[in-house]
Amino acid sequence: MKQFDAAIVANRSLAESWRELALEWDSSAGLPEPGQFFTFRASGSTDPLLRRPLAFSAVDRDASRASAIYQVRGQATRLLSELALGSRIDILGPLGRAFPAPGPDEIPILVAGGIGLGPVLFLARELGAARRAASAALAGAAASAGTAAAPAGAPAASAAAPAASGGVAASFAGLAPILVLGFRSALAIPRLELPPDAILCTDDGSRGFRGTVLDWLEREAPEGTARLYACGPAAMLAALAAYARRRGWKASLSAEQWMACGVGACMGCALPRADGKGYLRACADGPVFDSPAPDGAEIDWAAEARRVSAPSPAQSPAPGAAPRSAPSAMHGPAQSATHGPAQSATHGPAQSPAPGAAPPATDPRAKGGHEPRAGEA
Ligand SMILES: Cc1cc2nc3c(=O)[nH]c(=O)nc-3n(C[C@H](O)[C@H](O)[C@H](O)COP(=O)(O)OP(=O)(O)OC[C@H]3O[C@@H](n4cnc5c(N)ncnc54)[C@H](O)[C@@H]3O)c2cc1C
Ligand code: FES
Repeated sequence: MKQFDAAIVANRSLAESWRELALEWDSSAGLPEPGQFFTFRASGSTDPLLRRPLAFSAVDRDASRASAIYQVRGQATRLLSELALGSRIDILGPLGRAFPAPGPDEIPILVAGGIGLGPVLFLARELGAARRAASAALAGAAASAGTAAAPAGAPAASAAAPAASGGVAASFAGLAPILVLGFRSALAIPRLELPPDAILCTDDGSRGFRGTVLDWLEREAPEGTARLYACGPAAMLAALAAYARRRGWKASLSAEQWMACGVGACMGCALPRADGKGYLRACADGPVFDSPAPDGAEIDWAAEARRVSAPSPAQSPAPGAAPRSAPSAMHGPAQSATHGPAQSATHGPAQSPAPGAAPPATDPRAKGGHEPRAGEA
């Protein structure tokens, strides 16, 4: 991890309000892995005061470049979108915990919604590259041993071949990943080179599967052992966590929490632990959290989803008024209704819970809430 000024080598539009940023990456900072993120400051001034996090969507190790896919939402991303090629921005990274590699007998199922697209695409490409490298190594070994090479497209089994790409997937040579991407409609699909076998889901059916990523999983997910990887809004993660539990699968879910310091010092990114023992920090303990976690450090995604979608006092309907329509659970950030106690609108740590503090008063566990179903906010 390192703080440095990085030159912008690409900053292009991908769809309405979606852009792709590529930076010259100082490899002495360490090479980013899928699931990790960096924080940036897009202007030399103190406004906005806090750095903003973006997840890596790709790394070109040969060219020392790193990319992110971002949605223009507020001041920092608007300033970023206006920066010309060659401009330099203040970067801190790579930060956070990366996605773990799947086991050799686990089908990796990768799911993205909203701004979760970047890190999930990064993981898909790394796993694909690792499999191709392992297949090539197997074929080479078979050829030099004078036996027939493995047929093209065959799973690379458990060969311990090094991946071309290195990184988190370096030791992966297992089963072909399944990539499931959720969008509101065809218009929201970024103009990106997506893996040809990516499964596209749209809420309105204007492209690919009609329905949410959860609908797709419920109908089409393979039998057998899988590991679920996902990044997206809290309600999507809550539904995926519940689904994985039901199937007896492991899950590695990445939070897209608001942050303040970004380096573990302020609790501005606190997520509730499933065991009720306080909070975990998205920036330093995550943003990728496993379920089940060996040390019991799991996130209560259902509580987090309810907290994010709960109306703030200012937004609560007047007594007797019709309930507010819930924000979209599956593609959420643009419709996220509130910043909760741990993520103030100013991204400030002042309202953050102390480590291990009692859950905030709005924590629905205190109210005996239920786990949200897919599509429920
Ligand atoms: C680990 C991590 C990785 C991230 N990766 C990406 C990424 O790859 N691409 C990307 O586009 N964004 C990503 N984000 C979210 C990004 O950091 C925020 O969108 C950021 O706050 C934008 O700054 P801004 O000043 O432009 O907008 P802000 O003024 O900060 O926000 C504008 C509005 O967007 C909403 N908002 C902001 N952040 C979030 C959030 N995290 N969740 C839900 N709603 C939010 C709020 O309602 C806010 O009013 C990531 C966040 C984290 C924590
Ligand atoms: S933002 Fe995570 S501890 Fe400060």
